[in-house]
Amino acid sequence: MKDLRTYGAYAVVAGASSGIGEQFARQLAAAGVTPVLVARRKDRLEALAAELSGAYGVDSLVVALDLLEDGAVDELSRQVSGLDIGIVVANAGIFHAGPFVGNELSDELDVLALDGALPLRLAHRFGREFVGRRRGALILVASSLAASPVPFQANYAAVKAYVLSLGQALNHEWKKHDVDVLVVSPGPTRTEGLDNAVGIDFGKLGGRKMDPAVVARTALRQLGRKAHVIPGLMNNLADLAGKYLLPRSASVRLYGRIIEQALTGPGTAA
Ligand SMILES: NC(=O)c1ccc[n+]([C@@H]2O[C@H](COP(=O)([O-])OP(=O)(O)OC[C@H]3O[C@@H](n4cnc5c(N)ncnc54)[C@H](OP(=O)(O)O)[C@@H]3O)[C@@H](O)[C@H]2O)c1
Repeated sequence: MKDLRTYGAYAVVAGASSGIGEQFARQLAAAGVTPVLVARRKDRLEALAAELSGAYGVDSLVVALDLLEDGAVDELSRQVSGLDIGIVVANAGIFHAGPFVGNELSDELDVLALDGALPLRLAHRFGREFVGRRRGALILVASSLAASPVPFQANYAAVKAYVLSLGQALNHEWKKHDVDVLVVSPGPTRTEGLDNAVGIDFGKLGGRKMDPAVVARTALRQLGRKAHVIPGLMNNLADLAGKYLLPRSASVRLYGRIIEQALTGPGTAA
């Protein structure tokens, strides 16, 4: 793994109060980078900051913010101004599964805003600075579902496909400015987000869920090496099969069948 301190002294982790983001924060602190912990649940962030201070002697900054609020990224910028931010992890995310027209439009628009527009805003805000000074790294958290259209998670998968495309393109654009960009596409991972997912019971899908610490570790190890990483052998095999063995129409049908059997909302088979 590259010495992450060479990017800068601080790392912004959006969505640091649980799951994959919390693991990014832990591992960044262990690597000597001070995390800026961003999420809504201030108590969680403060408890994590205290723990990281005890374990690694880092003085994390807690930024309790609803990233769906207008001007949230401006507020975050204001709170970190003057800090040497080297890494930004655009990880905060939500999702809603179920038949598309059964979901509220406002919920789907929140997915678009938090999982799609927020990475764009963070990339633009911090990317300008990174490119200008020729130093920095951006990690975008997509999903294994970015690889195919996914019925019953239609909007979420489409937004994650956008994130994957955005990050891979920025990886190329910013390489000549010495700025690293990595997209990480986790498969099913044991987090609160997965356990509390609305409209779907991932337990019904079988298969082992990945440890969020492994997801974060894989991403941090590949930062500066690759444009895109998929943690886990099985997730990589599924991705390869989707890309090279199945026509897209078959992949859509397969995902449709798999996801439909795990739906839990009204009007679904469950
Ligand atoms: N778990 C999986 O199987 C899986 C698979 C593929 C991709 N992913 C992606 O991985 C990322 C992390 O997900 P996770 O599974 O770790 O979920 P998680 O445990 O629910 O964590 C989500 C994080 O986002 C924050 N967040 C949510 N809404 C927010 C808002 N409005 N403002 C600020 N922060 C907000 C949450 O904090 P607060 O609630 O405190 O605000 C939390 O820290 C997401 O982008 C997700 O799409 C997850």
